[in-house]
Parts: sequence; C-alpha cells; structure tokens
Amino acid sequence: MPESFDVIVIGAGPGGYVCAIRAAQLGMKVACVEKRATLGGTCLNVGCIPSKALLQSSELFEETRHKMAEHGVVFDGVRLDLAKMQARKGEVVSANVKGVEFLFRKNKVTWLKGAGRILAPGKVEVAGETYETKNIVIATGSESSPLRGVEVDEKQVVTSTGALDLEAVPKHLVVIGGGVIGLELGSVWRRLGAEVTVIEFLDRLVPGMDNEVAKQLERVLTRQGLKFKLKSKVTGATKSAEGVTLTVEPAAGGAAEEIKADVVLLAIGRRAHTEGLGLAEAGVELDERGRVKTDAHFATNVPGIYAIGDVIAGAMLAHKAEDEGVALAELLAGQKGHVNYAAIPGVIYTWPEVASVGATEEELKAAGIAYKAGKFPFTANGRARAMGDLDGFVKILADAKTDRVLGAHMLGPDVGTLIAEISLAIEFGASAEDVARTCHAHPTLNEVVKEAALAVDGRALHI
Ligand code: FAD
Ligand code: NAI
Repeated sequence: MPESFDVIVIGAGPGGYVCAIRAAQLGMKVACVEKRATLGGTCLNVGCIPSKALLQSSELFEETRHKMAEHGVVFDGVRLDLAKMQARKGEVVSANVKGVEFLFRKNKVTWLKGAGRILAPGKVEVAGETYETKNIVIATGSESSPLRGVEVDEKQVVTSTGALDLEAVPKHLVVIGGGVIGLELGSVWRRLGAEVTVIEFLDRLVPGMDNEVAKQLERVLTRQGLKFKLKSKVTGATKSAEGVTLTVEPAAGGAAEEIKADVVLLAIGRRAHTEGLGLAEAGVELDERGRVKTDAHFATNVPGIYAIGDVIAGAMLAHKAEDEGVALAELLAGQKGHVNYAAIPGVIYTWPEVASVGATEEELKAAGIAYKAGKFPFTANGRARAMGDLDGFVKILADAKTDRVLGAHMLGPDVGTLIAEISLAIEFGASAEDVARTCHAHPTLNEVVKEAALAVDGRALHI
C-alpha cells in the first residue's frame, strides 16, 4: 500500500516549506519533496540569504575603508579575507537551512528526498516510490534565464549562483542585466575591489520600480564606481584563458563593440522551473511565459493540483511565495486564505536601499487615477545626518479624493525596513493623514516616512 498524505508539496523553497508547515499546523498530514541536499530552496541556499550575507560583509569592508574615517574611527591596513567572508556566508546559509529541517521535524512534515514527479492527480513519484495524496502543491520555483550566445559555466560566465561563490575578486566583472540581481551582486564585488560594468537593454535600471527612484539610484551607484551601459545588448561571448570577450550592440541596432571581462554575470531575469515534473502528462496548463496557470485560489486546471511562488505569475519574491503558501494551506483547510498583492513590498539591498510597495506614479497615470504625491529627503532628517547617510527620499502616493495610501517608493538608508510601515498602511486601508498623525520616535529614519505623509498635503515640517 503506498503511503498517503493530505498534501504533498513539491519544492521546499519559501513557498513550499511555509505551505507545508502551515498545512501541518492546521492538522493535515503533509509531505514536502525536495531534490536539493538541503531545504529552503533558492532563497536560503543560493538567493536571498547568501546574497544578504555577502552584502552585509562587503558593506562592512567598504565602510571600514571609506566611511569610518568620517566618524573619526581610523583603521590602518584594512584587508580582505575573502575565504573567511565566503566561509561565514556558508555558515549563515547552513544555520538557516538546518532551521527549516528543525521546523519540519517540529511540525511533523515528512521530507521526501529526491525529485518529485506527478504521475496523475493524487499520485506523486519520488525516488522510485509512489505516494498518494488528496492535494498536490507545485512549488518548484524558478531558475536563471539563459541568453543565446552566452554559455554559462559558473566559472567565467556565471549566474547569481556562481557569482555568490567566486574565490577571487575579479578585476573586471561585467553584469548583463541592470535588475535586482545585477545591482546587488554588482555592488558586492565593486565594494570588494572589482571594476564593475552593468550592461542593460533598456534606457533605465530596475524596470518596474518608480522612475525617479531608478534615476537617483543610477546616480548614486555611478558615484560609488559602478559603470552603466544602458540601451545595449550582448550578442555573444567568447571565452579564453585570459577571460571573456563580449560582443555588445546598441539595443536599437548599430555597430558592435567588444568588452573584455574576467567574469561575466548573466542576470536578465528568472523563469519558472517546470521541467521533469510530468505537468504535460498530467494535463496541467502553462501560461504564455511557461508559468503554471492558476486561478485566484492557486488552483490549476486539474482538480487537486495547485501551484504557488515563483513558478506562477507575479513578483518573484520570497515573501510573496510564503504568503501564497500560507493562503493556500488555509484554503485547503476550508479557511479563507488570501494574499493582498497591493501590499507586497519589493526591496533592493544595495546601499542606499530601494523599497517600493503598491502602485507607482507611472501605473497610476496609466490607469487614470488622480493622486497626490508627498516627498521628503533624507538630507532633512537628523538621524540620517548623524549616520552620514543622506542619499535618497521617501515618496508617498495617496488618492487625490480619499487620501488613501496607494503606494510608496523609497531610496535611502534602511528603507527596506521603513517600507513595512506603508505595507501596513495599505493593508489597513489607511490614509496619508493617518500615517502623518502617527507619532514617530525622534530621532529615527522613520520620521522621513511621517514627513512624506505630511508632504502629501503640503505640510511637511522640517523642509
Ligand atoms: P524556490 O525557492 O526556487 O524553491 C523551489 C525548490 O523546489 C528548490 O529547492 C528546487 O530544488 C525544488 N524543486 C524543483 N523541482 C523539483 C522537483 N521536481 N522535485 C523536488 N524538488 C524540486 N527574494 C526576496 O524576496 N528577497 C531577496 O532578498 C531575494 N534575493 C534573491 C537573491 C538571488 C541571488 C536570487 C536568485 C533570488 C532572490 N530572491 C529574493 C528571490 C527568491 O529567492 C525567490 O522568489 C524564492 O526563492 C521563491 O520561492 P519558491 O518557493 O517559489 O521557489
Ligand atoms: P530582473 O528582472 O530584476 O532584471 C533583469 C534585467 O535585465 C532587466 O533590467 C532587463 O531589462 C534586463 N535585460 C533583459 N534582457 C537583457 C539583455 N538581453 N541584455 C541586457 N539586459 C537585459 O531580473 P534579475 O536581476 O535576474 O532577478 C531575477 C528575479 O530574482 C527578480 O524577479 C527578483 O524579483 C528576484 N530577486 C529579488 C531580490 C530582492 O528581492 N532583493 C534580489 C535578487 C533577485
């Protein structure tokens, strides 16, 4: 008799492992299939966590070399021990993935080790064994998108996975793609001493983020030493013992030029990971971009088969995947699970950070929604002055008639943390006035959020 479950989740990333834990909390018998040797998916193993460990370490190196002296803290002979930095990153990852294993044991979630394949609705095969289940959740995540003519070997031409594991600082790192990965990992290696050139197809960085934020971010990162080649496309890469030669053309067409690099990071987006899952045989429909098609309750077209996280439409973010995992587990338990997509923040962990939630001005204009914008710079904030972190601003967008907060876009110190206040405001349906009337501790960076909310009605106090 095959072992049977209420839910089998395929993939133990933030979507899958959180869904499994929540389903188990709600009394279901749950298994989670993972083919990687450790739990936690892309995010914990080769994504969010190792990248943030290196961002933190490299920022400390940068501050020690360039910023501490401004504060009167003088170091002589600062040097980099990259092997130690990488080993620390490994320890951070290890502690996190072991934490998920502990949570599985605590919640009695069975880890089925190996690649999962859907044989039919209610039947999943793992490592030659067949398991039965009432519900199947596809949470197989995403993988780096390839680029024709640029072959990844994870040594000279790397994806984010290889870029997190470099054993030496490249002299010249060329990043293809001025998106989130390109700017975060470009920043890491620039801080550690590489010359970094980012080649971006569009005329701006981080498409989808507020235009004003993107422009100012480009200025700040250029000042830090990153080089940008916008409106350009890479059409080929030739490898030799000396490095990689890229052929680069204007995006609109024109004369090609060659750029030499020691290491090339390919970061032009990620695509849904659906290979080898048996989806075609099971009749599960994909959308035009190869993602699993679901309804608003994460159900595919095949009864009993659901999907969440990077493998379905929407932002490819760990917290989006987690929230979908929780909502789906609650729906499967007969509760009213729900994700408010208007309140999902996006953060880029450069320094200064970028953070965004809700609609951008560009989206509101396109939708014909009348809005008011309030903006406040970090230069006018006492705490930012004390820290010596003056770049950036907070912009809050509110409905012109109701004053309801519709979005916020930030560039500045720790805005990845500050944005939570506006996610909460959107979740609660708060007005800009509500945020402005909330008492904020002094002196904190959070006061910039309050002042931006006051500025929505033209009554900021400190500018
Ligand atoms: P994944 O985390 O991709 O997990 C899917 C899992 O399924 C994988 O472990 C895979 O091995 C497994 N799997 C696939 N197929 C099978 C199969 N057939 N059988 C068994 N197992 C299978 N997001 C943020 O919100 N914040 C960040 O700071 C951030 N930083 C990032 C940095 C980098 C470098 C990268 C690459 C991504 C980053 N992301 C970040 C994005 C984030 O990692 C993803 O959005 C998130 O991991 C998606 O979760 P998921 O559960 O949908 O899929
Ligand atoms: P991205 O979608 O953020 O950026 C890709 C960039 O590459 C875009 O600017 C795009 O215009 C450009 N591009 C596309 N094709 C190109 C070409 N041929 N030549 C030059 N440029 C080209 O994708 P990225 O950076 O690979 O990240 C993938 C996903 O991982 C993102 O969706 C993001 O959500 C997630 N992620 C999130 C992080 C966070 O939340 N802090 C950190 C890292 C990744």
